[in-house]
Amino acid sequence: DMMKEVSGLKDLERKIKSLLDIKDVIVVAGDSDLSPWVKKEMGRACVACMKERLTSQSIVAVTGGTTLAAVAEMMTPELKQIDILFVPARGGLGEDVKNQANTICARMAEKAMGNYRLLHVPDQLSDEAYQSMIEEPAIKEVLDLIRSSNMVIHGIGDAITMAERRKTASEEIEKIKQRRAVAEAFGYYFNQEGEVVHKVKTMGIQLEDVKKVEHVIAVAGGASKAKAIKAYMKQAHHSVLITDEGAARELIRE
Ligand code: G3H
Repeated sequence: DMMKEVSGLKDLERKIKSLLDIKDVIVVAGDSDLSPWVKKEMGRACVACMKERLTSQSIVAVTGGTTLAAVAEMMTPELKQIDILFVPARGGLGEDVKNQANTICARMAEKAMGNYRLLHVPDQLSDEAYQSMIEEPAIKEVLDLIRSSNMVIHGIGDAITMAERRKTASEEIEKIKQRRAVAEAFGYYFNQEGEVVHKVKTMGIQLEDVKKVEHVIAVAGGASKAKAIKAYMKQAHHSVLITDEGAARELIRE
C-alpha cells in the first residue's frame, strides 16, 4: 500500500525477504522492544494474513508468549466467516498462565468468534505418564486435531531469555548455553545455523509436523530478536514472517 511505500517499509520487506530467503515478510512500523503497542500492530498484520490465506473450516494451532498474547487481542469477529477451530500447538512449556498456548488459544477463539479445544497436560511428564496420556481418548482427539491444522501461528524468542523465563533447570540452561542456542520457537532451541540443539518434551506439534503445515506464520519483533529470527528462519523457508522495523533494521545491519 501507499503508506508503506512512502515510509520505506515495503523496501525493508523486500530486503528481509531476500536476506532470509523466505516465503513472505510483513514489516510493521516501530520497535516492540521500545513500544509495547507494536506487538498489537503485528497482531493486526497477522489477522490480515489469516484472512488472506484461510478458506472456510480451518484449524489454527497457536503457541504461547507475549507476542501471541498481543496477537490474540487483535483478532476480530470478521474471522467468524472462516469458521476457525483454534488449538494450542503444544502442551505446557513452563510459562506463566497468561503466556501459555492454552490461554492464548481460548482468547483468540473468543475474539475471533471461533471454537477451541485445549490440551490439558502437565508441563513436566515422566516417560511412563507421557506414554499413557497420549493414549487417553480425549487427549488423542485434540492431538489429532493439532496434527491436522492448516495453519500454525507462533512466536520466536531469544534462547536464553526464554529458558530463563520458563524457569528451566540450571543443568538444562547450561546445556542450552554450551550448545550455543540463540533462538527458541514452540519449545525447540536452535543454534545460529538453525539446527535444533535442545527440545522441551511436551505433546503436540513437532518440528517435522510444522514443515508439512500449509500456512506457517512466525510473529516476532524487536531489535533484540534479530539474531533469533535469523537463526530460526534458516530452517523455515516456507514460513511467513511478521516482524517490526526494529528487528528488520537490525537484521540488515548484522
Ligand atoms: O513462546 C515464546 C516465544 O518463542 C517468544 O515469546 O513473544 O514473549 O517474546 P515472546
